[in-house]
Amino acid sequence: MRTQVGIVGAGPAGLMLSHLLHLRGIDSVVIDQRSRENIEETIKAGVLEQGTVDLMTETGVGDRLKREGFVHQGIELRFNSLGHRINLYDLTGGRAVTVYAQHEVLKDLIAKRLADGGRLVFGVSDVTVEHVTSSPKIRFTVGGTGQEIDCDFVGGCDGSQTYCRFLIPAGEIRTDYFRQYPFAWFGILAHAPPSSDELIYTHHERGFALVSTRSPDVQRLYFQCDPEENPDDWSDDRIWDELSTRVNGGGTEIKTGPIFQKSILQFRSFVCEPLQYGRLYLAGDAAHTVPPTGAKGLNLAVADVHVLARAIGSFYDSKATDQLEAYTATALRRVWRAQHFSWWMTSMLHRFSGANDFDLRRQVAELDTVTSSVAGSALLAENYVGLPLS
Ligand code: DHB
Repeated sequence: MRTQVGIVGAGPAGLMLSHLLHLRGIDSVVIDQRSRENIEETIKAGVLEQGTVDLMTETGVGDRLKREGFVHQGIELRFNSLGHRINLYDLTGGRAVTVYAQHEVLKDLIAKRLADGGRLVFGVSDVTVEHVTSSPKIRFTVGGTGQEIDCDFVGGCDGSQTYCRFLIPAGEIRTDYFRQYPFAWFGILAHAPPSSDELIYTHHERGFALVSTRSPDVQRLYFQCDPEENPDDWSDDRIWDELSTRVNGGGTEIKTGPIFQKSILQFRSFVCEPLQYGRLYLAGDAAHTVPPTGAKGLNLAVADVHVLARAIGSFYDSKATDQLEAYTATALRRVWRAQHFSWWMTSMLHRFSGANDFDLRRQVAELDTVTSSVAGSALLAENYVGLPLS
């Protein structure tokens, strides 16, 4: 088959790219190794920046988000067992975040692409991409039959397990920037009432904890743990004890309930440069990964494809290539700023191995500086709600 843009990966980057291209009258085909059910059910983060919400709303995929998402105008930073509210709304001139799970965003994008006649092929295998510097061809197998897509451009949106990134020759062209952290997050979903109206990011001598939510009866909580931790070693009681020890105090108390999902999230910072090689353009986790503190992953994917769809649109409108040539620089500026923000939140709130009492007191002083200064709080708030889409 033939299309203008062949997109590898039906995650936030691939589906949003296909959707934005369609609105510009540009045809695409999206392929993914996973089944539609798997994509629609895999639990990921759940915080949407203001720019992501606005883009979804303006492009016709924001109805359910508006109905079912929870707008949060503030977050709490908690240290020394006391909460300190960051008023996101006031500090950013009326911006906020919306708690709405990533797999719900994907369900909405898939439904919209299909309603608009989009071509999405799930459950493919044996994906290869050839001739990215001349006339790209994507080959894959689906239902036992080999298929080919001839296209003008390839969107490499295949997530952190990417195949597409490795089409950019390492060394003289591609450089990978990488940082591993010596800890992970233990994440749970529980049937319980909310412990708080807003998200709580906690610094504690036993390590970080985060109180988030999904709905009035389902809560999402995380606590810092060893990357080798086995979720099966943790009973519900042990998990609630650990979370309560880290979070409770000053009138806040974790509300408990049956836990129905436990998982370990690894922590990495990664960026590859450049994002483009020939007619291949990387977007989202295929090109960069942030640690989860601050929930920037999906939002960065959306910001990437916002820039990319406009650049591809400008090419088809007028044969202009300047925006395509600027894609790496434009997208990476935001990516590196988000890397910095995620690293900053991580380093301020987590307990590092080998940290002594000096290190813990220095972290508390930094949190005190940020929360007691309007300038400090505004810096955090601006980055948390998200920089404007460029
Ligand atoms: C969630 C995840 C995050 O990484 C974060 O910073 C806030 C909330 C979540 O899954 O709800």
